[in-house]
Formats: sequence, structure tokens, C-alpha cells
Amino acid sequence: MESFASSLSKLTGESTLLYQEIARKVEKTKGIKTINFGIGQPDLPTPQRIRDEAKVALEKGYTAYTPALGLDELRSKIAEFLSQKYGDKIIKDEIAVTPGAKTALFLAFLAYVNPGDEVILFDPSFYSYAEVVKLLGGKPVYVPLHFDQGKGFYYVTDELSSKISPKTKMIVYNNPHNPTGMTFDADLSKTVAEISQERKIVLISDEIYDYFVFDKNFWSVLQTPSWRDNVIYINGFSKTFSMTGWRLGYIVARKEVIGKMGILASNIYTCPTSFAQYGALASFDSFAQVKEMIDLFRRRRDVMYNELSGVKGIKVYKSSGAFYMFPDFSEVLGAGGMDSKSLAVKLIEEAGVVTIPGEVFPERVGKNFLRLSFALGEEKIKEGVSRMKLFVEKVLSS
Ligand SMILES: Cc1ncc(COP(=O)(O)O)c(C=O)c1O
Repeated sequence: MESFASSLSKLTGESTLLYQEIARKVEKTKGIKTINFGIGQPDLPTPQRIRDEAKVALEKGYTAYTPALGLDELRSKIAEFLSQKYGDKIIKDEIAVTPGAKTALFLAFLAYVNPGDEVILFDPSFYSYAEVVKLLGGKPVYVPLHFDQGKGFYYVTDELSSKISPKTKMIVYNNPHNPTGMTFDADLSKTVAEISQERKIVLISDEIYDYFVFDKNFWSVLQTPSWRDNVIYINGFSKTFSMTGWRLGYIVARKEVIGKMGILASNIYTCPTSFAQYGALASFDSFAQVKEMIDLFRRRRDVMYNELSGVKGIKVYKSSGAFYMFPDFSEVLGAGGMDSKSLAVKLIEEAGVVTIPGEVFPERVGKNFLRLSFALGEEKIKEGVSRMKLFVEKVLSS
């Protein structure tokens, strides 16, 4: 028998998908229709103009390889757009277009992490950061996020500083944040930028949800005047323009770093998909649709928050970003003698509601929480929370 590379044994698949699988089985065997709060993507189609431009590109036969770092026109557009937005002069050579933000992250880790290096992650965080760090022989080191029902989620500066060691290579910051739905206050973002720069640590700033900001001011790490020293900025088209299946993300970093990304790209995937990039060129004219979508998501967020606030036994913060709510279920877990994974399974099997257990977002902090996405219609949100409420009442009274 052949043996797989040992690094592969360190990698697991996307565990959020497991709960969708359980839901499919329950629907089949019990004949019930589940309500899906497990979704990690907007439920709207990509704006028409973007789809039209991709079709035109196909018709014109733009189906060949593009440069490894992406089409020059698209890189220039992204640079121009970010320059205007953040008042800097970002140039095309500081942009790499990638097949999705996940690939952008992968390249960033690949470019820096040596075996034994430590990478600071916030706990909880997007599951794939830790997986890739481990795949490369690095060690995730976690800084806990704290929860306060009034303030939401936050980190403590001293706790971050205390995790930095001579082996620290990178800090990964994600704002707005998956899974908590937090848009961090500007002072927290500025602090992480300052600390990483002072200590000469690479800062990956994953800002893929930057348009999903509801009632707070968003401060981008790209607003740090000296970001070129150490920042690898990650964003993409997936969430903002509802283009998850198009697989288009991008990296912003100083020219020298982007050059390295180009070498990695040409050896791994050659280039991002040609006609998808032509479609994405039209995204910069589609912000009216983005605004409509964000207004819709804000209303859905309010509906979910109002409904969840009426459920005794859970503590919920009104999410200020992304499209997730991350309520604390400690009391329910205690009463039912469950952990968040078994609670999520029971909610599917007994209430017909799909959520994602906080435990799948490393490492420990999420264990008392469930992630609920509000990327679905208001009536479904109401129905889903009302099913959860009945279930929770049953657990608490048993
Ligand atoms: C925080 C975060 N970063 C990156 C990604 C990946 O985005 P993409 O679909 O563009 O690869 C996701 C997707 O869920 C995410 O939540």
C-alpha cells in the first residue's frame, strides 16, 4: 500500500459540512424540512452585470491562461479602488488575484511559515487558519476572545503580547470576524497592527467581510500608514458580491511579497480562472446591489437578534458584522449535560435546525457557543429560532 505524506494526517476537512450532511440524513429519514443556520455564504445571486461580463468574456473566447498574478486590468482596478477607499497610493504590483480568499491565505502561510514557527490566532477563528499552519509544520498559539453580552467579543492586549515569543512568525487577524459576527473596535485593530509592527511579526489581515458591517465604524489594517512593512491583506469577491463559486480573492502586500506569491501561484494553479476575472471587472460598478444586500442583511440580523433575545437560557450579542450570530448556550449545555457538538446534532435531529457548534472554530472558547448564519429569509429565521426555543425550553425544564 502507498503511504500518504505525513503532513496530510494533520489536516481535517471542513467540519462545518458535517452538520449539513446530518441534516440531509434527517430530512430523508424523518421527512422534515430543516432550517439551515449553517450557511457561510450570501443567498443572493451574483449581480447581473458581473454575470453578463463573464458571459461576454466566454463568447469572445477569453479562455486562455492569464498572468499568474491575475489580469493586469483587474489588479489595477483593485489597486485604484483601495487607493480611493483608504487614501493611499496602492499600485498594481502590490496586488495578487487568487482563486478565492482561501487560496490567498494559503499562499500567505506558505510564503512565511517554517516548521516550528508559531502563528498567533484568535480563539475562536475561521477553521482553516490553524489547519494550514499545522500542515506546514507550524504551531498555532491562541489568544482568547472574551465575551460580554453588552460589548460583544474582544481581546485583551496583554494577553496578546504575552503570547509573542522569539518563534512568533505571524499574527492572523480577521475583522469583521467569523464566527462571532464581531466588528472589532478600531482601537483593537490599531493595537494589533502596532504590536505586530513593533515586534516585526507578519500580520495577515483577513477582511473578507468588510462590507458586512452594520452599525459600527470599520477600520482597515490598510489604513496603517506603514502597512507595507509587515501586512498581508486578504480580501475577495466571494462575500461582497455573492461570488463564492467563482473562486476569486486577492492579496495586497508590498511588491516584493507579491513577487513571491507569483512564483507560488505559477507553480500551484498557474492563474485564477480567466472569464471569472473578466466578470469581476464589473463588480466595481455593482455597489448599488451590494448596498441593497447589506441593508437586507441588517434587517435579517435585527430579526434574528430580536427572536433570540426572547429565548431564555441563552446570551446573545447583536452581531455588528459578517452574517453570523454567536450566542452563548452555557446554561442549556449545563442543563442538558451536552457539549456544543452534541447540542448541534440534537438541534438537527429533534428540532430540525442546523447550526454550527462553536467547538469547530479552534480552539476552546467556542465550546459554549453555536454559530447561526442569518443569510436566509426572515420567515425562516423566525421559524428556526422558534423551533430552537421550544427545544431549549424542554432541555431547561427537564
Ligand atoms: C474569515 C474567512 N476568510 C476566508 C474565507 C474564504 O473565502 P473564499 O470563499 O473567497 O475562499 C472565508 C469563507 O467562509 C471566511 O469566513
